[in-house]
Amino acid sequence: MSAEFVFVNEVGPRDGLQNQKTILGSDKRLQLIHQLIDANIPGIEVASFVNPKAVPAMAGANEIVQGLEKSNGCEISVLVPNMKGFELASKAGAQVITVVPSATETMNQKNINMSLDETIASSCNILKSAKESNLQTRAYVSVAWECPYEGKVDASIVLKMTERLLTAGADEIILADTIGAANPSSVGHLFNLCVNEFDQEVLSGHFHDTRAMALANVCAALSEGIRKFDSCIGGLGGCPFAPGAAGNLATEDLANMLSQMGYDTKIDLNKLPEIVAFCSNELNAPLGGRMTAWLSK
Ligand code: COA
Ligand code: ZN
Repeated sequence: MSAEFVFVNEVGPRDGLQNQKTILGSDKRLQLIHQLIDANIPGIEVASFVNPKAVPAMAGANEIVQGLEKSNGCEISVLVPNMKGFELASKAGAQVITVVPSATETMNQKNINMSLDETIASSCNILKSAKESNLQTRAYVSVAWECPYEGKVDASIVLKMTERLLTAGADEIILADTIGAANPSSVGHLFNLCVNEFDQEVLSGHFHDTRAMALANVCAALSEGIRKFDSCIGGLGGCPFAPGAAGNLATEDLANMLSQMGYDTKIDLNKLPEIVAFCSNELNAPLGGRMTAWLSK
C-alpha cells in the first residue's frame, strides 16, 4: 500500500520573513525559494502584496512572482490583504492567491485596517474575482483559536466564516493559530466541528510553536483527517533570537515527523538543514527546529 500524502505548504518566505530584524532583498528571497523548490516542497507562500510601508520586509513581491518561472510543479501562492493587493498580484501573474481575514474585530482592524464585516466582504469579493480569472484560491481564518486582543474565539464564528469563504470561492481554508495559543484538545475540537460540516480535503492547519505544542496540534488535526499543513523552514517567525520559541512550526520538524509516521510528503529531508543554515546565515540569527541537529548528522 502506498503511503498517504500530506501536503506541506512552506510559508517561511512570507510569514517567516515578514517581521525579521534583518530584511532580505528580493534576490536573497528568490534564492531561498529556489532552494525550497529544489527540496521538493509541494507548496510555498512566496510573498505578500501588502503596503511596503506597513511591512518593509515584504517589498518587491512583484519581482519575486516574476522571478519564479520554473516552479517544478510546486504550488506558488501569494498573500493578498485587500483588493489592491489582489490586483497587483494578478497583474504580476500570481496563480494561487490567499486572503487573510481574522476571526475577530480588533485583529482585522490592527492587521488590515478593516472591521470584521468589511474584511469578510472584501475577502469574498477577492475570492470571486480570483475565480473569475481562473486562479486557485485559499483563505486563512486567522486567530481561529485565540486572538491577542480579544482572547478565546468562539468556534461558531470560525464555522460561519469558513462557510462564507468557501461559498465565495475559496478552494481551501487554513485555520491559523496565529499566536500559538491552541492545544491538541482545542485543535481536535475545532477541526472535528469543521469536518462534520465541510469536506476535510479543503481544510488545512497553520500552527505556531510559541508554547511547544505545534507538532502535537498537527497530530490532533491528523486524527480528524486533516492532510494539509503550513510550516516555516527553521521555525522562522516570531523572535529570531529565541530559537524554538514563538516561531512557526519548523518545516523540518513537520516533514520529519510525518515521514516517521509513514506519511509521504515528497520533501527531500536531507536538503532541509542546508536551507536552515542559509536562513540562519542571511538573517544572522540562530534558527532551526528541534530536528535540525539530528537531521544534519
Ligand atoms: N499593496 C501595496 N500598497 C497598498 C496596498 C497593497 N495591498 N493597499 C493599500 N496600499 C497603499 C495605498 O496605495 C496607499 O498608498 P499611498 O499612501 O502611497 O497613497 C496606502 O497603502 C494606504 O491605502 P489604504 O487603502 O488607506 O490602506 P490602509 O492604510 O488601510 O492599509 C493595508 C491597508 C492592508 C495595505 C495595510 O494595512 C497593510 O499592508 N497591512 C499589512 C498586513 C500584513 O501584512 N499583515 C501580516 C500578514 S497577515
Ligand atoms: Zn502565522
